[in-house]
Amino acid sequence: MQAAPSYSETIVPRENLDFGLDASVPKYWYRGDAYKSRYLDAIQLTFPDGERYFITSVRAFRERIDDPAMQAAVRDFIRQEGQHGMAHTRYNQLLAAHGQPIDELLGWFKAKLDERARLYSDEFNLAMTAAAEHFTAMLAEAFFAKAYTTEGMDARMRAMLAWHAIEEMEHKAVAYDVMREVARVGYGQRAGAMLRMIKEILVTSYTITDRMLQADGYSRRQRLWLHFKNLPWIHGPRKGIFGALTPRLLAYFKPGFHPNQLPVIHNYRNWLEAYQRTGSPALACDALLAAAYR
Ligand SMILES: [Fe+2]
Ligand SMILES: [Fe+2]
Repeated sequence: MQAAPSYSETIVPRENLDFGLDASVPKYWYRGDAYKSRYLDAIQLTFPDGERYFITSVRAFRERIDDPAMQAAVRDFIRQEGQHGMAHTRYNQLLAAHGQPIDELLGWFKAKLDERARLYSDEFNLAMTAAAEHFTAMLAEAFFAKAYTTEGMDARMRAMLAWHAIEEMEHKAVAYDVMREVARVGYGQRAGAMLRMIKEILVTSYTITDRMLQADGYSRRQRLWLHFKNLPWIHGPRKGIFGALTPRLLAYFKPGFHPNQLPVIHNYRNWLEAYQRTGSPALACDALLAAAYR
């Protein structure tokens, strides 16, 4: 009998949300800033295929789960990730309509995922998924705990990111628990998969950002300068979107780590309450930000 995992939040699959994303979303939707918009575009571009990979990795062990609570969590995790993939696919289609080489970029990324699935064991693929889920669980902290992070962001894009980040917090322990309790992945493989995932995220995000900026007409020299100039925005130890999360990232390497040790962001309940009351992801996002730290 597997040890019963504890889930700190209820996993609620919310379906067919409408964010009002259409061709009127500005090309540079974050502060009118080409680099920052494209960097976030690059990350979100990978979500649909990335999430299908997460689902496949967890599904490989589904038959071996005998705990009903874990079975239910896996089912709801798959439903949430499926919805995320659909929403981000719609946005990727808008990027393609704006002239971005989306098919080329998705093909490149998908080939990497397929290679990983082919070369590594089911256990290591699941460990990679658990590592990636630790990153997505931190998205809410990265963008929505403080108000300044999303200032100047298109409200529709912001609402989509908020919904996704909230649900990632809700299911943050699912892949990890299947990895630990069912796949029996030990510390070495878990830590190794995280190191590999850090490298993958860096290579993928910079490669796609660079290609998108090239498609926007930026020269190689201009792109190099933009990458350099934006290093503090991404990696700065205090205010960098990822740099500020370093302590949470390092926590993953503690032998006794569990995702539920990291609390949900303080304003999570504000999003939840507003969404339950209004059914509007836009109003829920407003409530989230109204309660964010200034
Ligand atoms: Fe997701
Ligand atoms: Fe996820």
